[in-house]
Amino acid sequence: MILKSLSLTNFRKFRHIETDFPDGVIGVFGLNGVGKSTLFEAVAWALYGPVAARTSSDEIKRAGAAPSERCRVAVEFVFSDNCYRVIREMAGKNQTSSAVATMNGKIVANGAEATTKFVQKLLGMDAKSFFTSLFAKQKELNALSVLPAGERKQLIVRMLGIDVIDDIIKDIRSDIRAAKSSIDQLAVSLQDKDTGRSKKEIYREKIEERKEKIKKLLNAIDSSKKKREILEKELNAVLSSKRRAQRDYENIQSELKDLRLKKEIFEKRKRLEEELRKIRESIRQREEELKKKGTERSRYKGIDEQLKDVENKIKDVDSKLSEVIKKIQKTETQIENIDREMKKVESKKNRIESLGPSAKCPTCERTLGEHYQRLIEKFEKEISENTENRMKIEQNLENYREKKIELDKLKDALLKRENYLRDMKIKERELNIAIEGIEREINREKQEVESKEKELHSMEKVTFDRSYLEETEKRAKLYYERYNRLVEEFNRKQEEIHALREEIKEREGDLKLVKEQIRELEKRIQDQEETERKIEGERERLADLNLLEDVMKSFKIDIISRIRPTISTYASKLLEILTDGKYSVLELDENYEILMYDNGRAYNINRFSGGEEDLANLCIRLAISEMLADRAGGEFNFIILDEIFGSQDANRRRNIISALNLLSNRFRQIFIITHIEDVKQFVNNAISVYEIEDGTSKIKME
Ligand SMILES: Nc1ncnc2c1ncn2[C@@H]1O[C@H](COP(=O)(O)OP(=O)(O)OP(=O)(O)O)[C@@H](O)[C@H]1O
Ligand SMILES: [Mg+2]
Repeated sequence: MILKSLSLTNFRKFRHIETDFPDGVIGVFGLNGVGKSTLFEAVAWALYGPVAARTSSDEIKRAGAAPSERCRVAVEFVFSDNCYRVIREMAGKNQTSSAVATMNGKIVANGAEATTKFVQKLLGMDAKSFFTSLFAKQKELNALSVLPAGERKQLIVRMLGIDVIDDIIKDIRSDIRAAKSSIDQLAVSLQDKDTGRSKKEIYREKIEERKEKIKKLLNAIDSSKKKREILEKELNAVLSSKRRAQRDYENIQSELKDLRLKKEIFEKRKRLEEELRKIRESIRQREEELKKKGTERSRYKGIDEQLKDVENKIKDVDSKLSEVIKKIQKTETQIENIDREMKKVESKKNRIESLGPSAKCPTCERTLGEHYQRLIEKFEKEISENTENRMKIEQNLENYREKKIELDKLKDALLKRENYLRDMKIKERELNIAIEGIEREINREKQEVESKEKELHSMEKVTFDRSYLEETEKRAKLYYERYNRLVEEFNRKQEEIHALREEIKEREGDLKLVKEQIRELEKRIQDQEETERKIEGERERLADLNLLEDVMKSFKIDIISRIRPTISTYASKLLEILTDGKYSVLELDENYEILMYDNGRAYNINRFSGGEEDLANLCIRLAISEMLADRAGGEFNFIILDEIFGSQDANRRRNIISALNLLSNRFRQIFIITHIEDVKQFVNNAISVYEIEDGTSKIKME
């Protein structure tokens, strides 16, 4: 692999630079911090992405670049005669990364991760190996000589990536621990916590117990089924008896129905005949009473005429009475009139008498004289005539009064008679009403007789044997009881069968349950066996892991012991070239002490000059690079030496560079990064990196 060109945009200190890389020893010059190392970091970043950067991704883009600006690196290289170009960039607000790789102009990978993967596969090394093999730093060179032997060994082991074996061993140990604890846990799960016995054994015992139970259940089911069969047969027999009994009972019931019907008709006829008899008797009695009442009624014959006669008589008496009363009144008036006249005459007479005969006539005013006597006489005559008249009239009045008394008596008698006759009349009417009532009753009863006779005629004549009915009823009762007994027996048997069925069902359920339990236990045994197998597997794995650990340990020892002579061989060859044959053997002893041979004898590196020691260290570092490059399988024809000049003076620096020029058949490109300006004169190509006013850096090929 050789680098052809590099282009950076907004990568760390660089706004934008582009450069081609020639072959040979190329010096990269510039003051501290101008961005020399950045150039090669950019190459690694383009190839491997963020893992190859020394900072997090967000610090890669040039500080001061606008957010809209992208950070971009494009690197061109030749590998196995093909020309590759890898471009990686971060763009947009979120600095989304993208990458693309082309081979001879054709896209071979697209996308940030795809590109990384492609590069890794192509070069046969990851970012870390890439750095170790192609990027040698001053610090490492110093460390190689300064570090105590043990740590030197560790450093080399780390550089070669052999420390991964330690990681592997660590992983194996943790796997061993895990396997052990898994075995312990699994073993615990095989045992019953309470008894400490094997669970499998307990499960087997339980299965045996359950099998015993199954046997018992099967026996019980069998005997229940037999019982059920017997009961079913019995049930059938009871069923036909029950049907027979039912038929008998139904027959006797219909016979009874007939008998009862006859009984009813018979009794009804009897009842009707009795009723007829009673009604006829009642008619007879009523007719007798009617006869009596008829005789009674004849007594009231002529009452009306008699009453009329009496009423006429009363009328007659009444008119006579009113006549007499009138006469009496008239006569009494006459007497009153006479009395009044008499009083008048007497008072006149008394006055005249009191006046005497000398008195003047009150009427004619003449002296009475002679008139006096005449007057008196006249008055006396008048009085006697009146008296006489009065007596006659009084006699009449007396007669009238007697007549009236007589008439009153007669009337009283007549009124009494009238009352009597009226009472008789009422009685007659009452009698008539009674007779009518009796006649109505007789008629009604006769109609009743007629209808009952009709009913009786319409009824059939039946013969009825009461004792036969009673006997049949008794028989029916017996039949009924027998039928009921059979029904009960039938139901009982049915219930028994039902109970047996339930029992069978329940036992079959139990059976299923127990079988299920056995299956469950068998499954548990299987699980236990599975666990046993797992333990076995884990034990095997543990044995494998133990073996693997041993293998890896000895592998590490072996590899480390092999590396030493290999590094020695690579480094010796380089040393021979670099010292132009003066020294040709460089060795790492078992303790990783650096030994250099002079005239066939090994010396500790301290015995040699500072410059020679630097060379020896450089050879070991380059040897490591070569080994890694060889291991990757491809040709890596470039190496970057970053600030490898420590304390060397100009002379020694020149010697190193001229020595490196001698390696041109091994490395087509050797990049020497240094801030020491005078190195420039010893190199054929120089790239200067410098800062401009705005703080960004530029490069210039010289
Ligand atoms: N994102 C960035 N933007 C701008 N400058 C940055 C950014 N990241 C790092 N730098 C600067 O880049 C410089 C580091 O560059 P680099 O390490 O390449 O220098 P150098 O030339 O190798 O120096 P030395 O000779 O000391 O090794 C530092 O000054 C650092 O502050
Ligand atoms: Mg640097």
